Amino acid sequence: MWRCIRVATSFLALALACFGQASEYNSIYRGEAGEVFTRKPNAFLVEMLRGRKARKALDVGMGEGRNSLFLAAAGWDVTGIEPADEGVKQAEAEAARRGLKIRALVTTFEQFDFGESQWDLIVLTYEPTKAIAPKVVKALRPGGAVLVEDRHLDTRRVWPTGSFDNNELVGLFAGLRVLRYEDVWARPDWSAKGLDERLVRLFAEKPAARETGCLWEAKPVAEGEEVCWGVVNLVCAEEGWRMVKNGKCRLQ
Ligand SMILES: C[S@@+](CC[C@H](N)C(=O)[O-])C[C@H]1O[C@@H](n2cnc3c(N)ncnc32)[C@H](O)[C@@H]1O
Repeated sequence: MWRCIRVATSFLALALACFGQASEYNSIYRGEAGEVFTRKPNAFLVEMLRGRKARKALDVGMGEGRNSLFLAAAGWDVTGIEPADEGVKQAEAEAARRGLKIRALVTTFEQFDFGESQWDLIVLTYEPTKAIAPKVVKALRPGGAVLVEDRHLDTRRVWPTGSFDNNELVGLFAGLRVLRYEDVWARPDWSAKGLDERLVRLFAEKPAARETGCLWEAKPVAEGEEVCWGVVNLVCAEEGWRMVKNGKCRLQ
C-alpha cells in the first residue's frame, strides 16, 4: 500500500515537473521524485558564454540554481528568480557551501520588475518563454544577450510537451541579432524520461549602438579623414570606407 502511494507521489511529481504550476515544483526540489534532474549547468549556456565578459545576469525560473551557480562561479553578478521556495532554498544553500554569491528571489516573472536596459544576460532554460519575450528584450542592455533552450512542438511525437514551431523562437526575439540558433534531436538536460527530444536553442544579442569612425591597419581613423591604398583614395564615411576619385594619392 505505502509502496503504491510512494510510486503514485513520484509519478505525480514528475508529471508536475513537466506540466505543473510553479509552486508545484517544490516537491521535485525536495527530492520526492528522486534525483531525476541534472544539477550540472546547461551545456549550451556554458558554450555560449566562453570568452564573454562576466557582467550582470538574470536567471528566470532558476529552479535549484544550477545555471545561477555556474554564472556566479564564472564571476557574473547573478540574480535568480523562482516561485518554488524549495528551489531557492537549495540554490542558496549550495551557494553558501561553495562560497558563491547569488541573489535569489522567491517570485514569478509576472511579479518581478525586469526593468529597462538592466541585464547583460538573461537565461531562460525550460521556461514559459513566450509570455515574457517582450519584457526580456526591453530589459537587456545594448550588447546584452538572451539564452533560451526549450522543446520544439515536434517533441510531442515522443512525449506530451513542447511548444515552439519551426524558427518561432527566432521570431519571438525578432529585434535581436542571432548569434546561434539550433534545432536538433538531442537529450534535454531537464527531463525525467531520458529521451532524445526535438530541442530549440537560441543565443541572441541586443544590437549595440554602431561605433563611428573606421579602422585602417588596426588604427582608428575619424569620419571624413582620407587614406591612400596605393594610388586609390579612400575616405572614412558614415557607413565605412568609400573610394573617392581625384584624391591626393599618387604612385611614389
Ligand atoms: C523545467 S524547470 C527549469 C528550471 C531551470 N530553468 C533549469 O533549467 O534548471 C521550470 C522552472 O520554472 C519555474 N516557473 C514556472 N512558472 C514560473 C513563473 N511564472 N515565473 C518564474 N518561474 C516560473 C518553475 O518553478 C521551475 O522551477
